[in-house]
Amino acid sequence: IDELLAEGVKGKRVFVRADLNVPLAEGTITDDGRIRAVQPTIAKLAEAGARVIVASHLGRPKGAPEPAFSLAPAAARLGELLGTDVAFATDTVGSSAKETVAALTDGKVAVIENLRFNAGETSKDDAERGAFADQLAELADVYVGDGFGAVHRKHASVFDLPERLPHAAGQLIATEVGVLKKLTDEVKRPYVVVLGGAKVSDKLAVIDELLGKADRLLIGGGMAYTFLYAKGYEVGISLLQKDQVEKVKEYMARAESTGVELVLPVDILASTDFPDLKGKTPAEYTTVDADKIPADKEGLDIGPKTRELYASKIADAATVFWNGPLGVFEHPDYAGGTRAIAQALVDSDAFTVVGGGDSAAAVRTLGFDENAFGHISTGGGASLEYLEGKTLPGLAALEG
Ligand code: 3PG
Repeated sequence: IDELLAEGVKGKRVFVRADLNVPLAEGTITDDGRIRAVQPTIAKLAEAGARVIVASHLGRPKGAPEPAFSLAPAAARLGELLGTDVAFATDTVGSSAKETVAALTDGKVAVIENLRFNAGETSKDDAERGAFADQLAELADVYVGDGFGAVHRKHASVFDLPERLPHAAGQLIATEVGVLKKLTDEVKRPYVVVLGGAKVSDKLAVIDELLGKADRLLIGGGMAYTFLYAKGYEVGISLLQKDQVEKVKEYMARAESTGVELVLPVDILASTDFPDLKGKTPAEYTTVDADKIPADKEGLDIGPKTRELYASKIADAATVFWNGPLGVFEHPDYAGGTRAIAQALVDSDAFTVVGGGDSAAAVRTLGFDENAFGHISTGGGASLEYLEGKTLPGLAALEG
């Protein structure tokens, strides 16, 4: 946005597409990382006298208003962070948005309601998306794209709107892309990638790409059981994506032939029951070797031997990228694996990048200092798709 600021934005209506998709528990924000991440861009524009219109999605409402997905709590938090009143429009392009924007004075900020309350935002139909983008364009003079977490979505506010207005990338997008470039174009080796999270199907494309880039791939979380199963182990009632087993076998063979170290858990915390995430009552589990998960139990975290093994694989890395929790970290009894990986990143001298909403939230809720990491990305799917080498609609639109 430096060029934009140099040209002058005083009195201009600047539309900032942010990603304020923060986790909420009964209307309370449990992690405001994404709001803090975009705050500098908004503050700079406001300081320069722009009339700032902040827009975002939250959750996945189905194209109509759903109170549980209102951006009102995020708008209030943004106001607290900025230390100023932030106006809130209760619709996206209706009378409330128009009036709120018209009432903005220089240097003031307004947030409009969840963009996904309008079906045009996520429509696969170009004309429908375009029509919504036309309406959004009427609200503003200039577009600033800074919702890094959503740049992989071909949505009206991400992809179509910048076509309709003079546009620039915000500071957050510039930082995020700068960091991810270091992992793709000029990575320092050894390059170690830790992949967790529930579903292997979400990570297939990135694993495919990383088999040609990373030196070591450490696997954990729910997706590990599909790998263990592919290796011929019984996994009890653990999360298993049977339809992905052949693909995973292919990856394991490819890793072997290309010399990429693909490391799987050697021990597991297994239980007959999924833990109580609300009351957090103590869990009952046993620690078992990864090839001895009992038939009536499911794996819920990596065990102590695996934590040590993974920490040793991280210790001599020059670059580490970590995406996805290693276990059900939301319960204290199964947070140990995720905590051990976060600690290993903190202890290493490597350039460390944490990607993905869940791992970023885990790092903060487990009490780690964000500054102890090289970079904590606000993008989950977006950072993975960037690493896959895909063209991201929201970045392409800003370049055009
Ligand atoms: C995210 O949480 O990864 C982004 O906000 C994108 O959300 P989406 O997956 O619902 O498009």
